[in-house]
Amino acid sequence: MEALAADNDVETPDTSASAAATTTGEATFSERLEGAIVALNRARTTLDFYPPEHPLLQRSLEHAHTLFSDLLAETPEITLKLIEGHMVYGDQRLFAGAASPGLVGGLLRRDVQSMTFVKGLRVEEVAELARIAHMQPAELAARDGVQAEMGRRGITHVRFEDLVITGTQAGGGYVAASAGDVYLRALDVVHGAMSSAFSGRIVDVEGTRDVVRELVDRVLEDRSVVVSLTCLRGHDDYTFAHSLHICLLALALGESMGLDQSQLCDLGACALLHDVGKILVPLSVLRKPGRLDDTEWAAICRHPVDGARILSEHEELPILAPVVAFEHHLRYDLSGYPKVQGHSEMSPFSMIVAISDVYDALTTERPYRQPMRPEQALETMIQEEARQFEPRLVRWFADLLGAYPPGSFVELTSGETGVVCRANPEDASRPCVRLLFDADGEPIDPPADIDLVADTDVASGEPRYAISRCLDASPAGVAPMDVVAEWAQGQAEAQDEPE
Ligand SMILES: [Fe+2]
Ligand SMILES: [Fe+2]
Repeated sequence: MEALAADNDVETPDTSASAAATTTGEATFSERLEGAIVALNRARTTLDFYPPEHPLLQRSLEHAHTLFSDLLAETPEITLKLIEGHMVYGDQRLFAGAASPGLVGGLLRRDVQSMTFVKGLRVEEVAELARIAHMQPAELAARDGVQAEMGRRGITHVRFEDLVITGTQAGGGYVAASAGDVYLRALDVVHGAMSSAFSGRIVDVEGTRDVVRELVDRVLEDRSVVVSLTCLRGHDDYTFAHSLHICLLALALGESMGLDQSQLCDLGACALLHDVGKILVPLSVLRKPGRLDDTEWAAICRHPVDGARILSEHEELPILAPVVAFEHHLRYDLSGYPKVQGHSEMSPFSMIVAISDVYDALTTERPYRQPMRPEQALETMIQEEARQFEPRLVRWFADLLGAYPPGSFVELTSGETGVVCRANPEDASRPCVRLLFDADGEPIDPPADIDLVADTDVASGEPRYAISRCLDASPAGVAPMDVVAEWAQGQAEAQDEPE
């Protein structure tokens, strides 16, 4: 079935989150600040792909500069802090998208704890900042750190200060406190690992290992919450978020299959880096909104081989990392690509990554098609199992996601409608649902969360409601993945609160 394989290969960055944050008329100062930070982060990302003189990079730097200048017209200084892993302005914690990896988050995590933008900020300074953020930590350390490098580059309208951080710290970086933080830090590592490979530098093996260890801990704690984290999307470039989602899904699947902690650490690293070869595919091909011609398709088809080559140069990585990169677009019957001869079977890790990869691709919006509904994607994969996937693996995967995977828009027997936010390990057909509309179709404000296993009838002790059917969310104007993302963020915040 070519459709599954083809859909899996063109991964397109999503720019909607930052655009929404920066263009709204009645946005608050904090919201506009979030937009400006996202724009700065994006400019930093652009530097990974284009030479410094490229017009696209210039435009992206100018855009970020304009947003900051507009804010600095209203206040002489803007100070951002990283406290316990959260980016904070004044007494406000900024939205996750703003704290996402990139220029500001990256610098704050290097050796700086507070960063102040001062009125008069020049676009050249923004460019130099982006270049500093693009440097590897070791390179920066060898040049006496961020402060010294800033002075050398003539940056005078940005100040860094040390700050007493009350959160946990280790090795110069923070130890993430919540699932949401782990997600953001992981995104940063994927970004760093892929970007450094692109510019011919080594993959950040240490960072990869650290973050995978954190993710494994989360999976061992509660695998279903980790699966829900894969619905957090749109806050960073798609390829990076995609790699992280594959890692989360692969870990959850591996854990449900009984892999031990050290096997999970290896699997997580392999999954996180599976698409690293894509960094060598021209962006114009990766982002093309339509069918690829033969030359473009050939460029895409090289990424497993390139990925395997890049990863094989790192002996410290799990021995299977290059194997998984090479095999992740092969199918169970060894169709797919690259074409292989004398290849008897795929590694089980590759099969786990492949199945996670297809599910994420099918449920993600592409420039040329709408995403499939989660339950439809799962259904499609089950139908294709014999040829594409190891049959037992598909069944485990289906059990993991439940009959109604996170992101499904469902109607209950009560007539209410809402979005499935997490599978219930006790009963695959009775997930946790965030209810958005009552039986008359009126919005429930604020939305109510219901656990279909725990919500029982007092007299009989039986669950009160069940899911009656899945619906299309678009006529209701609901973006299911956003609902799950909000739910997951709420879970993360609840974990942060002192008991
Ligand atoms: Fe791939
Ligand atoms: Fe992939």
